[in-house]
Amino acid sequence: MYIELVECADSEFSGRRFLLEADSDLRSILASSAESVLVNPTKSEIDCELHAGAKPDDDATLRDAEARTRIRHAVSQASATLRTGFDDIKTGKFDIARFAPVARSITASVLLSPHILAEVTRLKTKDEGTYVHSLAVSGLMTGLGQLLDLGNETTRELTIAGLLHDLGKLLIPNAILNKGGQLTDAERRMVRSHPERGYLLLKQHPEVSDLILDICRFHHEALDGSGYPLGLRGDRLSLPVRISTVCDVFDALTSVRPYKRAWTSTEALKWMFERGHLFDRRLVLRLGSLLN
Ligand SMILES: [Fe+2]
Repeated sequence: MYIELVECADSEFSGRRFLLEADSDLRSILASSAESVLVNPTKSEIDCELHAGAKPDDDATLRDAEARTRIRHAVSQASATLRTGFDDIKTGKFDIARFAPVARSITASVLLSPHILAEVTRLKTKDEGTYVHSLAVSGLMTGLGQLLDLGNETTRELTIAGLLHDLGKLLIPNAILNKGGQLTDAERRMVRSHPERGYLLLKQHPEVSDLILDICRFHHEALDGSGYPLGLRGDRLSLPVRISTVCDVFDALTSVRPYKRAWTSTEALKWMFERGHLFDRRLVLRLGSLLN
């Protein structure tokens, strides 16, 4: 199998990308302090799923097909509910409880199968783009919250924060958000104002927690301080904020855009891992293990 990444500071394999052929190399990795590895199935010469012991049989294929149908249905219902919830916010009615059923259906889909949820949310039309992107980010954040054992309350907040993180886009004209070509400087400034706009909108409601406010405001910040709106550096970015950044960018990279094809999960994870100055590498690897 082709190894893209080995998560380990002191292993001889750390930082190397290579085709794992020798049993002795496999034993060395297993014996090292490596916590996880990212395998690139498209460059591997064997069927990684078979090799890993996840032997697909008819039952498993059927279960996957059923999960896919169920999740597709849940995503289309959740997307419609989200649209109504966002329309209400536009007219000044905000009720965080409205998002509870959507959060429950996302959590259920993550528990059922995170990789199928990610696959289904990748197929979004332009019209429902923001809603389905919010569902996808919410699902990925929920999965990471569970994987990192952050506890039910924090994980639930991550789910809601994922649904609301791009709320500020409601206040940006669709003609700018959906513009195919290059944005003017003024348009770019307008798009980049969405985290602050969403934050100011949510801040008016005392029932919205600090974790949700922070994610809404800071999900476009980067570890080296090159993000926006405030250019905060990594030590000022909380774990929930760093989780939101990784999930947000991953969903953007793996989705079709007018100017690009959808990247595969492996391409997106690798691209992000190579930019450790922007993203928390540990979280990039955790996301990879969630979806594999
Ligand atoms: Fe955003």
